[in-house]
Amino acid sequence: MTAQLSDTITVHRLGAGIGARVDGVRLGGDLSEGAVATVRDALLAHKVVFFRGQEHLDDAGQLAFARLLGEPTLAHPTVKGREHANVLPIDSDYGKANSWHTDVTFVDRVPAISILRAVELPPYGGNTVWANTVRAYEELPPALKALVDRLWAVHTNVYDYAGHVDSTRIGGVDVKEESYRDEFESQRYETEHPVVRVHPETGERALLLGHFVKRIVGLTSAESHAVYHLLQERVTRLENTVRWQWADGDVAIWDNRATQHYGVADYDDARRRLHRITIAGDVPVSVDGVTSTTVVGDAAHFSAL
Ligand code: SIN
Repeated sequence: MTAQLSDTITVHRLGAGIGARVDGVRLGGDLSEGAVATVRDALLAHKVVFFRGQEHLDDAGQLAFARLLGEPTLAHPTVKGREHANVLPIDSDYGKANSWHTDVTFVDRVPAISILRAVELPPYGGNTVWANTVRAYEELPPALKALVDRLWAVHTNVYDYAGHVDSTRIGGVDVKEESYRDEFESQRYETEHPVVRVHPETGERALLLGHFVKRIVGLTSAESHAVYHLLQERVTRLENTVRWQWADGDVAIWDNRATQHYGVADYDDARRRLHRITIAGDVPVSVDGVTSTTVVGDAAHFSAL
């Protein structure tokens, strides 16, 4: 289904569960207020939105556009931007984010929005898949909702709870370079988040999990594992996902408060580079109105509140 939202902008839904392609927008710092509002509305409705034909963007243009959506964070709490302080290169030469996650959940101030731009693509493979964590919650049976509404989870950047035993995986990411791993772990962060957060803009309830989860508070590691996988299976059901095949000039923007994503590492040794900018988000709030708490590490330098 395609919705004509102005003379030029159309939003083309990609599935019942999540995702839309937005046509007729040239992203940049000069985008009109009306167009920014349309992009934001589409983002809140569809959780991830895709734009083709944005070859004109470079880091500066991506950043100028990002500022229209909110306050950009630093590239990452521990990993420094290579060319720009606010731009994180997602570069297969450093590692591959081939594990389900929500960005940067190991700190208290989880980014609200992520903006990912294709820079260099492999000849095949390297798609990204997103899942709708609001819908995953909404489709739980009432008894499971009642359980998860009260659960809290510890998220960290130095423990790969998802159970990948390969020592080159860190924070759920296949890390190629030892120095990148050292940088990723240079400061340990640990934060307790509610497993169900209330979205600050839509009021929707969303599951807050992904590969930075270390354990569920109050449960044994075996129980944590069982509960985590029970819920993750709901999140990553194919009907709850959208898969994007990247082309040159593509930009994806996702609501990081309502999604998880996975970069599929099926491109052999080819190089794959995308540049990510994240927009500052608030501290998650539980269904009872309780905010997440920092256990280890202060992320104030990374993101304004
Ligand atoms: C990310 O985790 O932000 C990047 C996902 C990807 O590599 O496709």
